[in-house]
Amino acid sequence: MAEADLELCLSTALKLAREAGGMIKDAFKKKKNVMLKASPIDLVTETDEAVEKFLFSELRKVFPQHRYIGEESVAAGAKVDFTDAPTWIIDPVDGTMNFVHSFPFTCVSIGLTVNKEPVIGVIYNPILDHMYHARKGHGAFLNDEKITVSGETDLSKSLVIGEMGTSPIPEKRECVFENARILVGKAHGYRFLGSAALCMCLLAEGGADVYYTFGVYCWDVAAGCVICREAGGVVLDTAGGEFDLLSRRVLCASSPSLGQEVASLLHQYQPPRD
Ligand code: IPD
Ligand code: CA
Ligand code: CA
Repeated sequence: MAEADLELCLSTALKLAREAGGMIKDAFKKKKNVMLKASPIDLVTETDEAVEKFLFSELRKVFPQHRYIGEESVAAGAKVDFTDAPTWIIDPVDGTMNFVHSFPFTCVSIGLTVNKEPVIGVIYNPILDHMYHARKGHGAFLNDEKITVSGETDLSKSLVIGEMGTSPIPEKRECVFENARILVGKAHGYRFLGSAALCMCLLAEGGADVYYTFGVYCWDVAAGCVICREAGGVVLDTAGGEFDLLSRRVLCASSPSLGQEVASLLHQYQPPRD
């Protein structure tokens, strides 16, 4: 894609993320209409659906020839159509459990892939007014200030973020507990925050040194992948190999050696592929 086209993609995504953030912020303190999807912890609200509809329709006006993948469209039966074509990958509300509880760690996440590679990422937490963005080859930013990872290499000095969730799948639960047990003894600190997209941003801005999770989808991590890498972080598969957007596992670290060390320690879990 030409530079000017990518510029237009980024500026459009930034504008729409701010508007979508307004919708999330307006609904944040109000009573939500919560519906269940695949399990009692897989939630969707009218805001998730409204934001996705808004983003798809606005983006399609500007980029009618692009492809689109969105969490709520897939939940409604659309298939994950992931090709080399420019593809917008959208999570209208990441951290829906947080949003439902008015825990202020929730965001909209907009990624763009070209040739299956994430090249633009925009993630906006409207409650804290944190706008993260990155474009491949142009650095990563928080509210227009350049951000970089900590560069930490020593696990004993690292703040690690995992995902607790409350998955009803026994094998996944065991994996979560096992990895917490392994890492709590070795890391400086260990946290669970409930938004994959924002955890990747935290790593990018140097607020954490490792983030890993099993069970995410492409819309949770597409935008965060660009932001992390452009801030100097590594984005890997949880076993330390190449990251695959559809594999449902991700490990981000502030340095390559730290990423490999954590990958070698993690108890691995493979959710069904997208
Ligand atoms: C979830 C969050 C959570 C992660 C889950 C995701 P949602 O997304 O990112 O942190 O652990 O795997 O599904 O449902 O809030 O959009
Ligand atoms: Ca999500
Ligand atoms: Ca979501």
